[in-house]
Amino acid sequence: MGDDDDDNDIPQLSSHTLAALQEFYIDQRQREGTKISQGFKQYSVGSIEEDWQLSQFWYDDETALCLANEAVLAAGRGGRIACVSAPSVYQKLKEQDGKDFSVCILEYDKRFSVYGEEFIFYDYNNPLNLPGNLIPHSFDIVLADPPYLSEECLRKTAETIKYLTKGKILLCTGAVMEEQAAKHLGVKMCNFTPKHTRNLANEFRCYVNYDSGLDHDSSCSECT
Ligand SMILES: C[S@@+](CC[C@H](N)C(=O)[O-])C[C@H]1O[C@@H](n2cnc3c(N)ncnc32)[C@H](O)[C@@H]1O
Repeated sequence: MGDDDDDNDIPQLSSHTLAALQEFYIDQRQREGTKISQGFKQYSVGSIEEDWQLSQFWYDDETALCLANEAVLAAGRGGRIACVSAPSVYQKLKEQDGKDFSVCILEYDKRFSVYGEEFIFYDYNNPLNLPGNLIPHSFDIVLADPPYLSEECLRKTAETIKYLTKGKILLCTGAVMEEQAAKHLGVKMCNFTPKHTRNLANEFRCYVNYDSGLDHDSSCSECT
């Protein structure tokens, strides 16, 4: 087959169309670049979308703020906060950066690694498989929201929580986990009811092992 035949087989675009197409691709790349940098650099809750395969159900903005404020109060000045499987609270805390605390996010979903050194990969199935530089009992408060409503998941997450905390624990999980939460962590149900961006079939509650504002009211006394 000669060159002429080849030319006939390949559809040719006019130089105008080619230029327009090129411009379109450049634009598209720029738009995506902006979306990624805005979406990932900012800490707004929901900037990383829920993946239901990972049992991800984000708190609504008010609940995330309420839990973040509670964590700051409980941790005290210069306190260290660990968010275990609770990325929205981490994001809300980072939105208020400048306040006197430090925070780590322990998460299975590696999309949250965009948050850099504060991200610690964590799988509840290996509860003590944590980086060597994570000193035991070095967090003033540990806030956790385990992915599944099963005793196994709670028991294993509880191992991590007890390893990390100096004492204070704030657990968010289903109302059905009340007995197991008391058994594994010595926490009791608060009056405050956390809310999610979507309606969940299971009733969710918060549990603490210290005197907390979340226990005084069903709404957030720190936010209202
Ligand atoms: C019920 S959601 C809690 C999220 C919380 N409501 C929030 O808004 O931040 C459970 C969390 O556990 C994480 N997760 C899923 N599988 C996990 C695993 N194997 N080990 C630890 N965490 C896991 C999910 O990525 C998700 O962030």
